[in-house]
Amino acid sequence: MKNTLIAPSVLAADFGNLQRDLEMINNSEADWFHIDIMDGVFVPNISYGMPVLETIQKHAKKTIDVHLMIIDPDRYIKTFAALGANVLSVHYEACTHLHRTLQAIRAEGMKSGVALNPHTPVNVLEDIINDVDVVCLMSVNPGFGGQSFIENTYKKVRQLKEIITRNKAKTLIEVDGGVTDKNAKELAEAGADVLVAGSYVFKAENQLETIAGLKRITSW
Ligand code: DX5
Ligand code: ZN
Repeated sequence: MKNTLIAPSVLAADFGNLQRDLEMINNSEADWFHIDIMDGVFVPNISYGMPVLETIQKHAKKTIDVHLMIIDPDRYIKTFAALGANVLSVHYEACTHLHRTLQAIRAEGMKSGVALNPHTPVNVLEDIINDVDVVCLMSVNPGFGGQSFIENTYKKVRQLKEIITRNKAKTLIEVDGGVTDKNAKELAEAGADVLVAGSYVFKAENQLETIAGLKRITSW
């Protein structure tokens, strides 16, 4: 039995109707809310911050998965715990003392996540894989929704799966960026456990059916 988790990215929601879009995710077959926090320094874009997250916390009835695309994320670990994050991912490329950062995230009762840019090989996680609850493999360069999927990601999912299995770790593999019905099945077959989808879900005419479709083709 394979149950791939689907995580719609709120970045692609209609912020004028945020509550409506959050309720849509609550009522759908989606598993997680994916929340992209960008600082305009680590990535060339600024997304949204604490007040929006308060609204998300108020309405979201599923796991809140926060993806920090910010420098010096240690400064905000307690803040995001208080804002209801269940999974907190930091970027490998933004952390000098990643092992310490992951301990600090778990100490706040959250699942520890590490995101890897497309250019970062998965083997950098070999020595800390048991300290990581979720690896977020970026399948686009972080900073924007609506970009095209980088095909090399399939290979990275397989390599990461091998590292996880060999170390008897329980780490989940999440893929983030450009996910659609064209790549979701192959990603699940390669070993992905969580698929983030922003534009594909929110630009769809029937969002509930689009989420259900992703779930259907990635679970068996
Ligand atoms: C990109 C973000 C993604 C983004 C995905 O920096 O990390 O989570 O919202 O959006 P799509 O699915 O449109 O590529
Ligand atoms: Zn993301």
